[in-house]
Amino acid sequence: MSTLEGGVAGLCMSSGMSAITYAIQTLCEAGDNIVSVSTLYGGTYNLFAHTLPRQGIEVRFFDYDKPESLLDLIDDKTKLIFGESIGNPLGNILDIKKSVSWLMARACLW
Ligand SMILES: Cc1ncc(COP(=O)(O)O)c(C=O)c1O
Repeated sequence: MSTLEGGVAGLCMSSGMSAITYAIQTLCEAGDNIVSVSTLYGGTYNLFAHTLPRQGIEVRFFDYDKPESLLDLIDDKTKLIFGESIGNPLGNILDIKKSVSWLMARACLW
């Protein structure tokens, strides 16, 4: 998997929720924030809206249909941006290319 994705290593987790939780807790600490699409799998929404804030990690939500709104949510404490390429259960498609292009435009200004 790591080779396919061009990574340096891989880590196998027992479930989707453990993979999401582990990844975020590896990259973030109290005081940091993450930016996430608002249409999410229920377990992920619960983690983001309730559990992570109790651990001091703020989660800022954006509408999958308005990726440009990402720009107002990111600051120097933002450690990652989270999205479901196909939202569960809505089935909405996150336009990753468009979202990244807004981010690239912002990065050019930094
Ligand atoms: C988008 C998404 N994220 C996370 C999960 C959670 O995965 P797991 O049940 O393996 O913890 C699911 C499960 O259906 C999912 O569809």
